[in-house]
Amino acid sequence: MKLFLDTADVDEIRRGARLGVVKGVTTNPSLAAKAGVGGMEGYKAVVQEIASIIDGPISVEVVSPDVEGMITEGKEYATWIPNPWVKLPSTAAGFEAMNALSREGIEINQTLCFSVNQALLGAQAGATAVSPFVGRMDDIGQRGMGLVGEIVAVFRQHGIKTQVLAASIRHAFHCVEAAKAGAHIATVPYPVLAQMAKHPLTDIGLERFLEDWRRANAP
Ligand code: E4P
Repeated sequence: MKLFLDTADVDEIRRGARLGVVKGVTTNPSLAAKAGVGGMEGYKAVVQEIASIIDGPISVEVVSPDVEGMITEGKEYATWIPNPWVKLPSTAAGFEAMNALSREGIEINQTLCFSVNQALLGAQAGATAVSPFVGRMDDIGQRGMGLVGEIVAVFRQHGIKTQVLAASIRHAFHCVEAAKAGAHIATVPYPVLAQMAKHPLTDIGLERFLEDWRRANAP
């Protein structure tokens, strides 16, 4: 399972990139707003900066509610960076735009997916990846990771090539579950990436090794 960073904060992306484990980035309008990005020109600038740090796909989300607007924005995003994944919502308008853009060879990240049926429609419309939102389903008392597993199983059964991208990840254990469920990618906020690296026994063990070394080599 590949790891993407779920942020538009360039400092977090630089820190994550230094670890050598970040294979892509996902952004959305909320993350852009949180990072202080203003307007389409601001979004373009930050997406281009992200692409200069990370080689893999960068997801850039449309902000138009209608098909024509989505298609226009998707085509525009495709000119910004070498490896864009245009994020389109799991709606009738979104599927129509996915169909049009994927036919032009533009990669699609189908976002806001909350059902197997939506995932099936996105795959047929040409999505490169589908993003089930795990945390937001958990929030309303449904098993978000169950949906990830179901989509993986159905896609496998039917030989569907669309990748399953576990999104709305809230903690490090979600990453373990997503990997076990067979997700191809998990997109994680920076604090979750930091959590993944941490174990208290590693810290205690390291401290003890260094202390023993210092004691044995004291003058
Ligand atoms: C990523 O593609 C999604 O937009 C993101 O994971 C949503 O996360 P949230 O539910 O924490 O806002």
